Amino acid sequence: MAKSNTVFPKTGIPWKELHKAMDDVRKGDSDWHGGRMAMSTYVVDDEVSRVSHEAYGMFLTENALYSGEMAKKRKVGFISLTLFQEEIIEMALEILNGPEGSGGQITTGGTESILLAVLGAREWARKHKPHIRTPRLLLPRTAHPAFNKAAHFYNLEVTRIPQGADCRADVAAMEAALTDDVIMMVGSAPCYPFGVIDPIAELAAVAAKRDIWFHVDACVGGYVAPFVRKLGYPVPEFDLGVPGVWSVSADLHKYGYAPKNISTVLLRDAGLKDYFTFRFEEWPYGSYSTPTIGGSRTGGSLAGAWTTMKYLGEEGYLKAAKTIMDTRQRLLGTLDRLGGFEVRGKPDIGLVNFGAQGFDIYAVADGMAAKGWAVARGRDPNGMHVALNPIHAKSIDSYVNDLSDVTGAVRKSGIRGKDEKAVYAG
Ligand SMILES: Cc1ncc(COP(=O)(O)O)c(C=O)c1O
Repeated sequence: MAKSNTVFPKTGIPWKELHKAMDDVRKGDSDWHGGRMAMSTYVVDDEVSRVSHEAYGMFLTENALYSGEMAKKRKVGFISLTLFQEEIIEMALEILNGPEGSGGQITTGGTESILLAVLGAREWARKHKPHIRTPRLLLPRTAHPAFNKAAHFYNLEVTRIPQGADCRADVAAMEAALTDDVIMMVGSAPCYPFGVIDPIAELAAVAAKRDIWFHVDACVGGYVAPFVRKLGYPVPEFDLGVPGVWSVSADLHKYGYAPKNISTVLLRDAGLKDYFTFRFEEWPYGSYSTPTIGGSRTGGSLAGAWTTMKYLGEEGYLKAAKTIMDTRQRLLGTLDRLGGFEVRGKPDIGLVNFGAQGFDIYAVADGMAAKGWAVARGRDPNGMHVALNPIHAKSIDSYVNDLSDVTGAVRKSGIRGKDEKAVYAG
């Protein structure tokens, strides 16, 4: 029997009514705008959002599938989107030290950037190391699950190596695990669970000895860590300027503050793009060639990112980075003052993972959730996690006050938290 028709309306509903329904339903969402959710949303302030959303709206119907050489040579499609893409990649390469001859591709997010880099590595190995029968990725355990997703899609093996005591990739252990079938090695800048940047230069040197594609996952750090370093913090080098780095994924919809969905995958040599570009010539409509996983892509996210980058400029990104680092200092200072908290590793930017000694961190997490904070929980070891961005400057006082109250109550009662499974997505 067919499903009864209760959701799809027989006649259209006026926009005013729909708008109200949407406003009502979002009341159940986490309060990211009030700074009560330190994950998943990356925002500078209302003014930057207004400008980038307006730019997004201007181009949201245009389709980036019809851009690039087609728009330039045949005058079909969108020269506007071609310019946005070229300039976004140029700006990205300037920020992330692309050498002469470097290039890149815009994607819909960190996962797609990683999917393309892994595909590139697989195809490169097929051509240059045809003896490899069981292509394998060699990762620190802290690398993002998107690498396993890529391996699942492309039928690759994966070896994950436990991180060191400082939460960074263990270079010696990774080198020891390097088998002849490895087609890609990876380091993160930073890894999401602990917010620390892996020893990229050392890992890249290990990969270079065997001519292995080395990818830096800077999806989180790509557009903030360079500015944090410029402020004077000791952020290690991790980008295309490091010898042995072949590709870098860096998300504009995270600390680039652009509206979703947009990321970049940058290549030390623009020619490497050929290894992940799909071409099909036998279709009655003509030749089809895409360097992305998807086909049609909105021009909105390109216009949104281009505008955000130009509107903020280096000055704006530096200011945002300073706000984040000052907010982080308020948090670290509070953890120190309250005592009993343990920050995992030495976080390089605004991602902080902290556990506790002598009381249960998940009880603190429950208490904070009861006070209306959207709490991210880490595991192995148990912890709480925040990904700070500029919007949290306005909520940090209230966060540390609540943290102080909740921690006091947890200490007094000795209560244990719900052993709620840490969930990152889904
Ligand atoms: C280090 C890292 N890499 C990749 C990704 C995947 O990014 P996306 O969710 O945009 O696909 C994330 C997402 O948080 C991440 O933290």
